Amino acid sequence: MSETLQVSGIVAGYIPDLPVLRDVSLSAQKGKITVIIGPNGAGKSTLIKAVSGLVPATEGHVVLNGANITNPRPDQMGGLGVAYIPQTDNVFRSLTIRQNLELVLRNAGPEGPARLDRLFQQFPPLAQKQRERAGSLSGGQRQFLAIAMALAIDPSLILMDEPSAGLSPKAAEEVLEHAHVLAQRGVTILLVEQNVKQALRLADHCYILADGRNQIDGPAADLLSDPVVGQIYLGGKRMAPT
Ligand SMILES: Nc1ncnc2c1ncn2[C@@H]1O[C@H](COP(=O)(O)OP(=O)(O)OP(=O)(O)O)[C@@H](O)[C@H]1O
Ligand SMILES: [Mg+2]
Repeated sequence: MSETLQVSGIVAGYIPDLPVLRDVSLSAQKGKITVIIGPNGAGKSTLIKAVSGLVPATEGHVVLNGANITNPRPDQMGGLGVAYIPQTDNVFRSLTIRQNLELVLRNAGPEGPARLDRLFQQFPPLAQKQRERAGSLSGGQRQFLAIAMALAIDPSLILMDEPSAGLSPKAAEEVLEHAHVLAQRGVTILLVEQNVKQALRLADHCYILADGRNQIDGPAADLLSDPVVGQIYLGGKRMAPT
């Protein structure tokens, strides 16, 4: 199986000598959805940020398509084909939809206008509202704008941090379904989700983090029927570190 992203033994955090992630490892395969779940504060966003170079890793490695990209400069990620969709504030609300997309296409050179057209073709509701401010969009449309901004760099790997948070069930399903469409096109998706059941139905592989450590991982279909997964989420219990 072709392995796109390999994270090995990552130790990372915000304050020196106080790591949030302690020896976290995972891999994500090309064209597959790999989902990370876990209780609030487990370190899911921190893991995505460590891969993106937004939080320094003091130990461990991040390897992408065989190249060591541990602690990249965040602005290098686009060039490496990696797009990151943050959990919050993932669009510029005061700019129009078109301006948001133009901003991420600013380095695309002469290809920019054609790429903008393609994105509008892919997301007709965004094309219709392109002169409106992003802040006026519904939550679901805003997530689609964030996805379109990620796609502007033609990524091979998209890191998505809770794209369905705060959305109506219908909008959440549409957003997650789009992740599936992208995976089918060969994009590798690393997805953090609180919407556990839906994410497990959609994903190929799942990692559970708790207290900044790997707990369980396995095929998503297996974890969907695992009583421990239900226990963590239904009771909000944390598992003892291994
Ligand atoms: N900017 C920050 N500075 C210091 N500590 C932080 C910062 N961001 C997060 N943390 C801490 O790191 C730990 C992990 O947070 P993180 O945001 O990665 O969790 P999460 O699993 O994404 O949680 P959630 O499900 O609530 O999004 C928490 O204890 C949190 O308080
Ligand atoms: Mg988070």
